[in-house]
Amino acid sequence: MAGYTDASFRALCVEQGAALCYAEMVSAEAIHRGSDRTLRLLERFPGERHVGHQIFASSPAAAASAVRAIHRLAPTVIDLNCGCSVPKVLKSGCGATLLRDPVLIGRIVRAMRDETDLPVTVKLRLGWDERTITYLDCAGEAVRAGAAAVALHPRTRSQGFGGRARRGALAELKTAVAVPVFGSGDLFTADDAVATADETGVDAIMIARGALGNPFIFAEIRARIEGRELRVGTRERLETALRHLAAEAGAKGEQVACREMRKHFVAYTKGMQGGAGLRQAIVHAATIARYREIVENYLAD
Ligand SMILES: Cc1cc2nc3c(=O)[nH]c(=O)nc-3n(C[C@H](O)[C@H](O)[C@H](O)COP(=O)(O)O)c2cc1C
Repeated sequence: MAGYTDASFRALCVEQGAALCYAEMVSAEAIHRGSDRTLRLLERFPGERHVGHQIFASSPAAAASAVRAIHRLAPTVIDLNCGCSVPKVLKSGCGATLLRDPVLIGRIVRAMRDETDLPVTVKLRLGWDERTITYLDCAGEAVRAGAAAVALHPRTRSQGFGGRARRGALAELKTAVAVPVFGSGDLFTADDAVATADETGVDAIMIARGALGNPFIFAEIRARIEGRELRVGTRERLETALRHLAAEAGAKGEQVACREMRKHFVAYTKGMQGGAGLRQAIVHAATIARYREIVENYLAD
């Protein structure tokens, strides 16, 4: 997830049992230009064994050039984003724009495959809008071009994050292609994740918003699969948030970390009793010491 899944956050997700995390999505053009800022987004945390790198691109040439550079980093998979609906990405003909042109998706995947023997995957939405539902065509073209797996967030581009993810489409995709299918969409609890896997037959489930401020969801899902119930208390949540902050500060410096962690703290404290006061205080916190003080005061209360 762009803006969230940096190395510090991925480390916590893996610690909690995530099998594979994706680094933040990067522009193929920026990688092609050798942008240092973009390449830094692909750095691993120490000991990170598996990571997915995801690019957005609008042409086979740009994607191929990016894959040449990314190949050297030896990620576990290289993914082509065909679902992002952020205006800046759409304007450059990337992300969900590709859903209107399944043949182009196939050409881009083929160009990526020609540059690497690492698995190349695609991440789709259902289509551009209700009149242009193309995920089966897009998946078909991608697989024919050599995609090793297909991920689907079963909403259209025009839906954004509105309405409900259509689980039925995951089941349909699963029967339509011979490669593994990864299911995404409205997976906020261990029950959601297990029910989606059971009902649709997908090979893997992707947690997105459900992991924000809640890396524990991976441990909860694993526990649920084993028939156990896992409950993570408030103290552990907040202590993990402080560890997250410390890791961010180590990677980006205290000032940047304190600013960037605000959105994460808002997520970590969601639903906590008296959490609103905690969030109000955090918005002004500019040092790690201040974050600690706010958390300690809250826990003491
Ligand atoms: C803040 C945010 C950033 C996201 N960034 C990406 C991204 O960079 N690449 C991608 O494939 N999907 C991205 N997504 C979509 C998610 O991967 C996921 O498919 C979608 O949120 C549906 O799952 P959910 O309802 O469980 O959150 C993002 C979603 C959010 C909320």
